[in-house]
Amino acid sequence: MPGKRLIVAIDGPAGAGKSSLARRVADRLGFFYINTGAMYRAVALWAVRLSVALDDMHRLEQLAREAQLELTKEGQVLLNGEDVTEAIRDPQVSDAASKVSAIPAVRRALLAVQRSMAQQNSVVMEGRDIGSVVFPEAQVKIFLDAHPAERARRRARELQEAGEQSDFAAVAGELRERDERDRMRPEAPLVQAPDAELIDTTGLSLEDVEEIVLRIVRSRTSNGKAAAMEH
Ligand code: DC
Repeated sequence: MPGKRLIVAIDGPAGAGKSSLARRVADRLGFFYINTGAMYRAVALWAVRLSVALDDMHRLEQLAREAQLELTKEGQVLLNGEDVTEAIRDPQVSDAASKVSAIPAVRRALLAVQRSMAQQNSVVMEGRDIGSVVFPEAQVKIFLDAHPAERARRRARELQEAGEQSDFAAVAGELRERDERDRMRPEAPLVQAPDAELIDTTGLSLEDVEEIVLRIVRSRTSNGKAAAMEH
């Protein structure tokens, strides 16, 4: 891309619709899509497989530093060369990712990787702390939220579509617990950056939200380059 690279940061709690939205927006703008949750999930999966205790900070830091993480253009997640795209969606891994991501040294290791991923390219990056910590200088910051019941419904539907058991009450409970942990941790908690635009996606279609975000991108990129790059 000629000229300055652009960073679109999308943060919010689980089930707010970040991943589907970020992928579509990246597609429209011709930017790289980077799912940082998938990176924490991959490290957590590795820890679970090796039976590393989720409070063993030193060992977890080591795994985060040694993990070879790749996010492909097609949306696959590779851990040490293995395709773990499906494996990291397991509810046990969701819970482990939330715990592993509370460890400052793990966050430091992945922060470096995340920053380097956006060095050469314009990106749409989604997670919990992208607008607040990873790229406080991002030109576009979105904070995506939705009513907790709506988020639990979406997550339960995703699990069902993936052929997994999904008990609504259990899914809602897991989301609540994970959000609470992600919001309350001292290091890079889930928070709306002061200059982020809040979008409540409750009752909105993915297409609606996509258009709102593209409008924000256009308005925040004064030279209109981002708009001109839309596919
Ligand atoms: O977005 P997700 O649900 O796949 O993320 C899994 C966990 O990873 C989430 O519970 C919190 C953590 N996470 C984080 O701490 N910081 C990020 N930038 C992204 C995810």
